[in-house]
This record gives sequence, C-alpha cells and structure tokens, in this order.
Amino acid sequence: MTSSEVWTEETAKFYDESSPEAFSPEVLDPAVGFLAELAGSGPALEFAVGTGRVGIPLAARGVPVTGIELSEPMVAELRKKVDEATLPVVIGDMARTTVPGEFSLVYLVFNTISNLRTQAEQVECFRNAARHLAPGGRFVIELWVPALRRMPPGQTAVPMTLGEDDGHLIFDTYDVVEQQCTSHHYHRLADGTTRYGSGTFRYAWPAECDLMAQLAGLEFEGRFADWHRRPFTADSESHVSVWRKPA
Ligand SMILES: C[S@@+](CC[C@H](N)C(=O)[O-])C[C@H]1O[C@@H](n2cnc3c(N)ncnc32)[C@H](O)[C@@H]1O
Repeated sequence: MTSSEVWTEETAKFYDESSPEAFSPEVLDPAVGFLAELAGSGPALEFAVGTGRVGIPLAARGVPVTGIELSEPMVAELRKKVDEATLPVVIGDMARTTVPGEFSLVYLVFNTISNLRTQAEQVECFRNAARHLAPGGRFVIELWVPALRRMPPGQTAVPMTLGEDDGHLIFDTYDVVEQQCTSHHYHRLADGTTRYGSGTFRYAWPAECDLMAQLAGLEFEGRFADWHRRPFTADSESHVSVWRKPA
C-alpha cells in the first residue's frame, strides 16, 4: 500500500507552484551540486522523479538522469518541461520497478521514501536502489526527522508552519504505534478561499534507514543535516544520508 493516490492530476497541476521554496536556487543549487558530485561521470537514477524539480537541473549539469515515477499526472507535468530523450521516465513503483543499466547514483529526495507506507516496502525500496547501483555507487536519501520532540504528552498534532509568509499552513498528526504521520496542508488562495490537502506517510528514524540499507547490502558512508553537508546533530530536523554499494 502506498499513499500515492495523493498524486492525482489536481495535485500534479499545483505541485510546482504550491512549494515555490523547494524550487528556489537556494534549495536546488546545493542539492544538485551534491548529487552531481556523487554521480561523477556516471548516470543517475531518481526514484519518484515527480515533475523533475531535481532531475531536470541535474540532467542540465551533464549527468544522464533516468526517473521512476508512479504518478502519470506528475510525469505529464515533467513532460511539459523536457522530452523523453533529455530525461527518460519509467512509470512504476520505486520499490519494485527496474530499469535497464547500472547507475553510479540512485537518489530519493524530499521525504519521499515515507510515501511507502509499510516497513516491508521501504526495505524493498532500499533493495531496489542497491539492485540498480554499480559497485561503489551511492544511494542518497533526503528525509525529515519525525518531529516527535515537538509534540507535548497527550497531544497528537504538531504545527509545522503557520503560513505567515506564504499562507501555507501545515499541521502533522502522528500515530506513534503504527509509525504513521498525516500531514494536513491548508493553502490560502488569492480569492480568499482555502484549498485543503492531506497525505499519510510512514516515518522512519535515521537508524532504521541504516538498518534498511544494511539489509540491502549497502554500507553507511555519511549523514548530513542538509545539502551543504552541515553536521547532523540531535536538533537536526532533516537529514541527507549516503550509503555505498561495496566495490
Ligand atoms: C514529494 S514528491 C517528490 C517529487 C520530486 N522527487 C521532487 O523532489 O520534487 C513525491 C513523489 O513521489 C511519487 N511517488 C509516491 N509513491 C511512489 C512510489 N511508490 N513509486 C514511485 N513514485 C512514487 C509521487 O507520485 C510524487 O511524484
């Protein structure tokens, strides 16, 4: 079971404009630089490539990028920007879909491993990454750290942003027994109305990611707080982690 039913035509249509900060050079340049460095002279595979937020600028840097993506409407948006020759995409589930070739880099960004709602699927996703890597190749994920430290005892909701700047409010509610988080998004629109959307995700701690990587035969290489390689600490709210397929 995945939460990918969220990624409908409607969601795809508004995806780029609903998170403008994620498309800003401040966010994208360091991410693309980090990934280009790890890809080296080899090709890269993006799991859940979406509308090409990262894949398109990475390909523009000269890294051959292939994508796997479950949502046809998201790929339709990507196709408005680049053609198949520039960024080939295979429609399918990143936990099990295979594409031809060996890659020096497989990456999965923007918290997207959480779209796989069970531990078994997340483990399969790590295995699928390992399957596509050349010896010595890297798997990179960008994932948020569950905000449970922000949740007082007796409550189930955490305000993530109150939308002072852009009118985008986010509240997360947690089911700590099933390790599920539902993110509630309220977008205030120019005409004064509010658009609501929600998605439910399976959160995983960094240590669980390391264990899933180990199950897939990957070795831990490094963990950072962000794409600038700032140190990951107890207060980090997100991480960029790198595992390597033994040479
Ligand atoms: C937050 S978006 C990230 C898209 C893109 N990587 C980016 O950084 O903008 C999540 C994407 O994951 C895709 N997705 C969700 N579950 C998936 C799955 N099981 N296999 C492949 N793609 C999936 C969704 O359709 C959506 O395009």
